[in-house]
Amino acid sequence: MKIKKLGLVLVSLGAIVALAACGADKKSGADKYLSKIKDKGTLTVALNPDFAPFEFQIIKDGKNEIVGSDVDLANEIGKSLGVKVKFQAMDFNNVLASVQSGKADIAVSGISATAERKKAYDFSTPYYTANNVMIVKKSDLATYKKLSDFSGVKVAVQKGSVQENIVSDQIKGVNAVSLIKNGQMINELKNDTVSGVVLEEPIAKAYVSANPDLAIVSSIQFDSSKSDSYAIALPKDSGNLKTEVDKVIKKLKADGQIDKLVEKNFELSQKSAK
Ligand code: ARG
Repeated sequence: MKIKKLGLVLVSLGAIVALAACGADKKSGADKYLSKIKDKGTLTVALNPDFAPFEFQIIKDGKNEIVGSDVDLANEIGKSLGVKVKFQAMDFNNVLASVQSGKADIAVSGISATAERKKAYDFSTPYYTANNVMIVKKSDLATYKKLSDFSGVKVAVQKGSVQENIVSDQIKGVNAVSLIKNGQMINELKNDTVSGVVLEEPIAKAYVSANPDLAIVSSIQFDSSKSDSYAIALPKDSGNLKTEVDKVIKKLKADGQIDKLVEKNFELSQKSAK
């Protein structure tokens, strides 16, 4: 009888310990990243703001401000988590790494969710799909009509972007030049240092309408089955953080808000382009 009772006590003690362990597991598992952000009261977002209309800089009241549809999206996520949002501007080739190192909590930077990147990061549900286009000088439109016209020619792409592979895989014999900043690619094109620039369409449109000497080659099509949609990059196994981020994106998408944000910020980028 006594032994039986002791057994019962031990079994229930065991159950309590197991339950407690479960609770701790939740903190370190599915809730780990979300509770860290909530404890800090800040969501730190990595981005490369030379990518209008998604992220770019304007001067407001004499001060630099980072704006764009990705900025609006990140702010919506902050609102839904009940935390402040801090933007950390950096070169695009450092954006993803900053999520891995923990310097940023998430990255919202027009990032294509490729199979390769998915090995190292979690990605939110996709929020935008864009095709790649070729920009040339308007005066060169007669010379460059198809991808093969760029064989043996310099074409600029952003360092660390998917365009590096798209250009070298889809243009035989091209001389792909990786540059850190999109603005620099556009300048080199204007100065004839490179003959083409490959960007996704909304960004190309923003640069072209701010630079009347440039144009998109409408007869050139890249294989778009190779383009992955934009998604937010999160640390691997981000659990409930991903669930919360997805919730916000799904809601905005259902309301058609994302496209509206992209449009609104496109207008803003045109107004602020010098
Ligand atoms: N979508 C491309 C990629 O993921 C380019 C993104 C560049 N983003 C930026 N904010 N500069 O590689």
